[in-house]
Amino acid sequence: MQIEPMTCAIGAELMDVNLGDAVRDDGLFNEIYAALLKYKVLFLRDQTLDKLSRHDHMAFAQRLGQLEDHPVAPSHPEAPGLVQIYKHPDSPIDRYENSWHCDGTFRETPAKACVLRCIECPPVGGDTMWANMVLAYDKLPDSVKADIEGLIASHSFNASFGAAMPTDKRLALKAQYPDAEHPVVRTHPETGEKLLFVNAFTTHFVNFHVPGRVRYGQDYNQAAGDLLQYLIGQAEVPEYQVRWRWKPYSMAMWDNRSTQHYAVMDYPPCHRKMERAAVVGDKPF
Ligand code: SIN
Repeated sequence: MQIEPMTCAIGAELMDVNLGDAVRDDGLFNEIYAALLKYKVLFLRDQTLDKLSRHDHMAFAQRLGQLEDHPVAPSHPEAPGLVQIYKHPDSPIDRYENSWHCDGTFRETPAKACVLRCIECPPVGGDTMWANMVLAYDKLPDSVKADIEGLIASHSFNASFGAAMPTDKRLALKAQYPDAEHPVVRTHPETGEKLLFVNAFTTHFVNFHVPGRVRYGQDYNQAAGDLLQYLIGQAEVPEYQVRWRWKPYSMAMWDNRSTQHYAVMDYPPCHRKMERAAVVGDKPF
């Protein structure tokens, strides 16, 4: 398998690989998985429906684990493991992707990995960016690392997707997806790397307000909010990023534990159609 790294920080393109082969070939699958852990996001071109059917797309992702659906976006009627991220000028969900995030951190067990295929894209625009959150943690000043050790943060469906919903629907989904608490510094369960694990779904720290840090209530509101925004902002550092220009039938798969991503919404009124398999993950520690 030929692997072409795309930056010094993150991302590689797999050349001459048909993902459909990896559904049945253990050796090829293992090579791809090792590359995924190393490069964190992998890209492929020309994975057309005749070479990789929707069922093969699901079957490849199922080799990584059980697939999950999405609380808001619908699944493909013939391939229920594939979530349709179809954007058009009248799309009701046309704003939600436009922030740095890991998929599903509002869940107790956020997704482990995702496998995304482009079905239709604008002639230019609609790129997706990923950031390496292991590097983002590694490069933090030691004083910040010491300060955030042991911090826990709350992640909310309610405050993100829920915000644009009518109250009754938002509260019903809030009951189904109550806020989840995760460590701010997560350990990758397979590589053992430490990584920064706050993103657009993160609303606040739950254990910041202790006497060692807070003299008055003022400190809590100001200091905790500033620290959280500083940490969330780390994904925006260009040195941690890779940017992928889509073509029809290009694919990306990412380790959703060690990366964040941002789908650039610079293409309306064009259409953009993506299909994504998301793989259930572990409880972060
Ligand atoms: C996602 O946020 O999982 C989808 C990214 C994309 O549509 O590029």
